[in-house]
Amino acid sequence: MPAPRRLVVLVSGTGTLLQAVLDAAAEPGYPAAVVAVGADRAGTEGVERARRAGLPTFVEPLAEHPDRASWNRALLDRVRGFGPDVVVGAGFMKVVSPSFLDGLRCPMLNTHPSLLPSFPGAHAVRDALAAGVAVSGATVHRVDAGLDTGPVLGHAEVPVLPGDTETTLHERIKTEERRLLVEVIRRITRADARTAPRQPQT
Ligand code: GRF
Repeated sequence: MPAPRRLVVLVSGTGTLLQAVLDAAAEPGYPAAVVAVGADRAGTEGVERARRAGLPTFVEPLAEHPDRASWNRALLDRVRGFGPDVVVGAGFMKVVSPSFLDGLRCPMLNTHPSLLPSFPGAHAVRDALAAGVAVSGATVHRVDAGLDTGPVLGHAEVPVLPGDTETTLHERIKTEERRLLVEVIRRITRADARTAPRQPQT
């Protein structure tokens, strides 16, 4: 069994998506392990979840930098320091720069609470409700230089119910989002593990 692929997870909030990945990674045979968790702001429950799991954490607030380029460089240094095979944005509410992505030298995934390309941006659930769609959902995609525009790796549909509020719909979406993120990470890291260089036969 090849070594699990190394995940660095970035959060901005409650970290229930991170928790789902931590719980999955605790199962024998899951092909990935979280090696560090970072946030763009202090005081997130997501970082507390990582600390409770005994993981290294870091916080890199944008406000502590003179500009976004400086913040992107600092965040890249933090993330690369953990040697990730995959970086996962799990409710991470910042847009990273193309130079950040180039500097990673590994894929970055993001999870988004709508069926991209519908409703990109920071208010996906509110926008879906306002549009009156009958079905929304969650997307996991590769991060590219655009805003929520990278190749889609997985979709999960969620019905919009009569009387749904932004909160009720988002919570229902997050249930599917957590399942989808765990499965997409499993799929791409298991494939990656298959293509990983074979250990020399001793
Ligand atoms: C998720 O729906 C994510 O897509 C969105 O905010 C939510 C974060 O949830 N950006 P959590 O912080 O993982 O609980």
